[in-house]
Amino acid sequence: MQTGKIPLHIVVVSCGNRLQEALVVIKSALLFNTNKEYLKFLIFTENTDKFREKLTDWKDLVPYPFDFELLQLKFPKQNEVKWKNLFQPCAAQRLFLPSLLTNVDSLLYVDTDVLFLSPISNVWTFFKKFNETQMAAMTPEHESGSENIGWYNRFALHPFYGKLGINSGVMLMNLTRMREFNWENQILPIYKEYKSRIPWGDQDIINILFHYHPDKLYVMPCEYNYRTGHCMYTRVCNTSHLGIKLMHGNRHIFHNDNFPLFKTVYEIIENYTLGSNPYTNFLLPLRRGLNQESVVNSSCGMISSDVLKISSTLFDDLSEDLYEK
Ligand SMILES: *[C@@H]1O[C@H](CO)[C@@H](O)[C@H](O)[C@H]1NC(C)=O
Ligand SMILES: *[C@@H]1O[C@H](CO)[C@@H](O)[C@H](O)[C@H]1NC(C)=O
Ligand SMILES: *[C@@H]1O[C@H](CO)[C@@H](O)[C@H](O)[C@H]1NC(C)=O
Ligand SMILES: *[C@@H]1O[C@H](CO)[C@@H](O)[C@H](O)[C@H]1NC(C)=O
Ligand SMILES: *[C@@H]1O[C@H](CO)[C@@H](O)[C@H](O)[C@H]1NC(C)=O
Repeated sequence: MQTGKIPLHIVVVSCGNRLQEALVVIKSALLFNTNKEYLKFLIFTENTDKFREKLTDWKDLVPYPFDFELLQLKFPKQNEVKWKNLFQPCAAQRLFLPSLLTNVDSLLYVDTDVLFLSPISNVWTFFKKFNETQMAAMTPEHESGSENIGWYNRFALHPFYGKLGINSGVMLMNLTRMREFNWENQILPIYKEYKSRIPWGDQDIINILFHYHPDKLYVMPCEYNYRTGHCMYTRVCNTSHLGIKLMHGNRHIFHNDNFPLFKTVYEIIENYTLGSNPYTNFLLPLRRGLNQESVVNSSCGMISSDVLKISSTLFDDLSEDLYEK
């Protein structure tokens, strides 16, 4: 624990078979924390022993201090089982963060199937851009021009944010403001009214809430939550200048062969040993992996230079002797 320094809190909720994925997103945050921000991971899980073991090991390997805390899953007593099983196991946990983490001012929530490809300080800067009413930041579910493939605009049986909805896989939350807004008292009536019409569970609830309170949401650009929909038909998220900041492998694409580029990025971070040289053990394998013909030719294969952009800037000139504790 560093005295006097407020950590950047990152929240992950991991149930069932999501343990390995959650460890990989945490590893990616540590790998890309090149400006050595003081990070604190808050992990809601049933697997406390496995997380404790791994993260304690990592504390010895990473060349700067970080913290973590393991928390029991917790839901309102009323409707406890329903909340737990809403959408994917445990995904609804984040709806209750304002009242569970009363000592925390603000945090970044990420789904377990997200990867950092840039320092967390990049996404954190959006807090400073909030105006007086904004309390959370997310990216659009689809970019404009994607109406023909949009889910919410074509199928939703409930109100949603904006023209095409928002994706909740990457979410900055100012809990102080959410508590002032009485967030949880707003969530429960929404759940009661719409529970039979919200196939995406917590994300739908968040969309309904911000439909009625659009002034409370800051919309971040798509490179902070890059998904296959941004590249599978045409490129609708322009990352050629800034690169891809966070990648989101929803629908299990890190684990199947539908999008080899996404799977390759995931595996190379999974295979990287924290504390080892990121140039030789991360950047070079990533370049090799993304240059394979089977990746280049595949759906979304054309974004490899955008995936590599930030990593190249950060890790290209790290020789063995520069990377020391
Ligand atoms: C969150 O909002 C509170 C209340 O407006 C403010 O004091 C605090 O600085 C905000 N936190 C961040 C990280 O911007
Ligand atoms: C903050 O920004 C949002 C989105 O642009 C807007 O709807 C809201 O009115 C703004 N709030 C203030 C106090 O300016
Ligand atoms: C992407 O954005 C950059 C800078 O904003 C711009 O110069 C470039 O033309 C854009 N590319 C496309 C394909 O829109
Ligand atoms: C990661 O490591 C596994 C086991 O050593 C290996 O089979 C796999 O090919 C590696 N993945 C990549 C993308 O290098
Ligand atoms: C990749 O695409 C190129 C050009 O279209 C083609 O010549 C090559 O055979 C393809 N390779 C694979 C592995 O499909």
